Amino acid sequence: MDDRIQVWVGDITTLKVDAIVNAANTQLAGGGGVDGAIHRAAGAEELQAACRKIGGCATGHAVMTPGFRLPAKAIIHTVGPVWQGGDQGEPGKLRSCYSEVMTLAVREGFRSIAFPAISCGVYGYPKEQAVAIAVDEVERCLETYLMFKRVIFVCFDQPMAELYRAALAQAT
Ligand code: APR
Repeated sequence: MDDRIQVWVGDITTLKVDAIVNAANTQLAGGGGVDGAIHRAAGAEELQAACRKIGGCATGHAVMTPGFRLPAKAIIHTVGPVWQGGDQGEPGKLRSCYSEVMTLAVREGFRSIAFPAISCGVYGYPKEQAVAIAVDEVERCLETYLMFKRVIFVCFDQPMAELYRAALAQAT
């Protein structure tokens, strides 16, 4: 396991990292789950205005706004796939979320980032499968991005954290 990766249980909006990642929708319209929490903590009006200016984000892609009132400098918004049974390109789209976010973060000169479990809530992606993709893709990116210091997988509860720990232990 890459020792730059951590698993942490708690609220992503409290983390002082270069960027936190939002599990957004294609309209960047805000919503419930982690998206709602980020909007509330960052300041919904300012964040909504910044999102409106960007216009939207396709599934599997990533865009950035400032962090506004968050301790994090920036928010990288990515749109995970809605689970439709697994044969609609969901794994590739989810993998793309992680690689696009990491690429954007590195381009910005960021060194630390926190990810929520993209697609694992309202979008219904089977958690174990999503976690395996998240861990595999982030480890792959870190092999290239040697300057990156810290990636935190943020979980809302302990069972989710156990899934990450198991996937990380398997990844050697
Ligand atoms: N900090 C960390 N993780 C959180 C937080 C939080 N404050 N709030 C929720 N989560 C966790 C959930 O427990 C879940 O494991 O984030 C994970 C992602 O769940 P969702 O937020 O439902 O994201 P997703 O499944 O990708 O669905 C995205 O939901 O809120 C809408 O606008 C969003 O339409 C989009 C959709």
